[in-house]
Amino acid sequence: MGAVTKRRATHATGRHPRRGGSDAARASRSRLSAIDLFSGAGGASLGLTGSGYDLRLAVEIHPEYGMTHAANLPGQFLAADLRAVDADKVTCAADVGPGELDVMFAGPPCQGFSMIGSRVVWDERNNLFLEVLRLARDLRPRVVVIENVPGLLTLADGAYLRAILGGLQDSGYRAACAELLAAQYGAPQMRWRLVIIAWRDDLGIPPGYGFPAPSHGPAEIGDLLPNCTIRTEETRGFVTTREAIGDLPTVQAGGQIDRYVGPPSSAYQKTMRAGLAHELHNHYAANLSAANLERLRLLEPGQDWRDLPHEMLPPGMQRALRKDHTRRYRRIAGVPRPVRLPRHQVEPVRAGRQRRSGATGGGSRPGGGPVPGRQTRTTPGPPVPPPPRTHDRRPRGACRPGGPVLTTVVGGKCRSRRVL
Ligand SMILES: C[S@@+](CC[C@H](N)C(=O)[O-])C[C@H]1O[C@@H](n2cnc3c(N)ncnc32)[C@H](O)[C@@H]1O
Repeated sequence: MGAVTKRRATHATGRHPRRGGSDAARASRSRLSAIDLFSGAGGASLGLTGSGYDLRLAVEIHPEYGMTHAANLPGQFLAADLRAVDADKVTCAADVGPGELDVMFAGPPCQGFSMIGSRVVWDERNNLFLEVLRLARDLRPRVVVIENVPGLLTLADGAYLRAILGGLQDSGYRAACAELLAAQYGAPQMRWRLVIIAWRDDLGIPPGYGFPAPSHGPAEIGDLLPNCTIRTEETRGFVTTREAIGDLPTVQAGGQIDRYVGPPSSAYQKTMRAGLAHELHNHYAANLSAANLERLRLLEPGQDWRDLPHEMLPPGMQRALRKDHTRRYRRIAGVPRPVRLPRHQVEPVRAGRQRRSGATGGGSRPGGGPVPGRQTRTTPGPPVPPPPRTHDRRPRGACRPGGPVLTTVVGGKCRSRRVL
């Protein structure tokens, strides 16, 4: 842990490419600098470099992810626990002084916040955003961008969001958040992300600036929301599954194919295959049982397990409620169709646990609330019903409970409101 992977011979010899007088060095200096915290194998790093940023450093606890990162991306890779990485180490590895860094991007773990995770306040991963706040304070980048899942908005009744926005504000940043849908930016995925953008005060940039207008579909930021029905007309222009992967050759269950057999047909396919000959990676099909293959054969595109004859279902699913497992055996529809998302349980954390752990009580943390999750696990309290579901009633585009001042981006415009 803690080793910085050297990428280029010039680094190894101590001559940093950005410091040289070459054209490459000059080009590098003219670009905005960025670092990627909690980088994983480099999804966000790829986005940053693809958008022209000079990626100086990626920090990630798992050294093995560094191999993928190094194979695909520039900059240094620091394999370390961010809780043990101070600003000096970052400035040294990224070769950028305090106050000089342009973008500090961070994608802290989201499992503890995710609606498909356990959503408990004692999950220690939930507190890793504190390292982002600490490094923002010490490094003073011009902008801090934090990416997570919308579930962060509701866990512990918004205490995490309040702590993050309040912490950024106390550190001299003007922060805003928005829930962004990947499909509105050209990814063939109905995947939501919570994005927080915080500008350093002295720049005078208003909170809410910097959220890119959607490039696909007719809706603006805030017109669509997680857990609310998305109508067909609102999906027009989204990249469909067929456009994305319709050029993949058919592969039999249990098989694998490593070459494309035809040319790309959609703009998306052309982009994805640019620079490739015909090689194809990771295209294999699960080795499904004969019974499962038979079930899938009976389904039309867009259908799922609820369309199968009852006797064809496995015993466990014969007992399942029709509202559960809504995506089991689901066949992809070839054309966009209305997306009716099941409304999830908003808050499965038991109030008894929360109270004992202090997560819902008052606190003096920045942002007006406790920092949840630092607590140790206590004896479970009595189960209580989840709070009322409010998703469909919330105002369009609103990031739910925020800090002392929560700024949300609505329809490309920025609004602030006090939500204490
Ligand atoms: C949500 S993923 C980040 C995904 C990444 N931004 C991307 O675009 O691919 C969170 C990452 O944080 C890493 N991580 C978890 N705890 C960490 C810690 N204490 N220090 C550094 N990295 C950590 C995980 O291994 C994981 O790769």
